[in-house]
Amino acid sequence: MRSVLIACSLIALAAGTTARAADGAAVFMQNCLMCHQSAGAGLAGQFPRLAGRVGAIAAVPKARPYLVQVLSYGMSGNVTVDGQPIMGMMPAFAQIPDADVAAVLNYLMTLGKAPRKAPAPFSAEEVQAVRAGQALSATDVHAARATLGIAKIAP
Ligand code: HEC
Repeated sequence: MRSVLIACSLIALAAGTTARAADGAAVFMQNCLMCHQSAGAGLAGQFPRLAGRVGAIAAVPKARPYLVQVLSYGMSGNVTVDGQPIMGMMPAFAQIPDADVAAVLNYLMTLGKAPRKAPAPFSAEEVQAVRAGQALSATDVHAARATLGIAKIAP
C-alpha cells in the first residue's frame, strides 16, 4: 500500500513537469487520474471521491481556498469519505500553474451530482490570491479541512 502510494507520488511528480496541459480534463488525466480514478470516482478507503464533492465545497465561499490549498500544498492525515477511513497522502502540486489549477477545479465541479447552488468558476486570479498567502504544510491543510467542516460540506 505504502509503496503504491510512493510510486503514485513519483508518477505525479514526473507527470506534472511534462508538457503544458491544455484544459482541466487534461490536467486531471496527467496529474490526478492515477489516484482519484476516472471521472473522479475515487477508490474506497484509498483515494477520496472527487465527483460531486468538489462542486459542493466550491459552492461554500469560505471553503473555496481549501481546494486551492490542498492542490498546492498537499495533505496528510486521516479523512473519512463515503464511510471509509482514508489514511493517505495527497501530493503537493505547487508546480501546476494558477490557470491550470483553476481549470482542473472547474473540470471537477462538472462531475457527479451538482450542488443545490451552482458554484462560481475558479479563475487564475482567485488561485493566485490564495497561493500568495502563507504557504501551508500538508498537516496544516488537514487541520484547515477539519476547521472548515469539509466532511459535512462534502460527505
Ligand atoms: C498519489 C495519489 C494522489 C494524486 C496523484 C492526487 N491525489 Fe488528491 N488526494 C489523495 C489522497 C490520498 C487524498 C486524501 C489525503 C488525506 O487522507 O489526508 C487526496 C485528497 C484530495 C482532495 C481533498 C478531498 C477531501 O475530501 O478533502 C482534493 C480536492 C484532491 N485530492 C484533488 C486532487 C487533484 C485535483 C489532483 C491532481 C492535480 C490530485 N488530487 C492528485 C491522493 C492523490
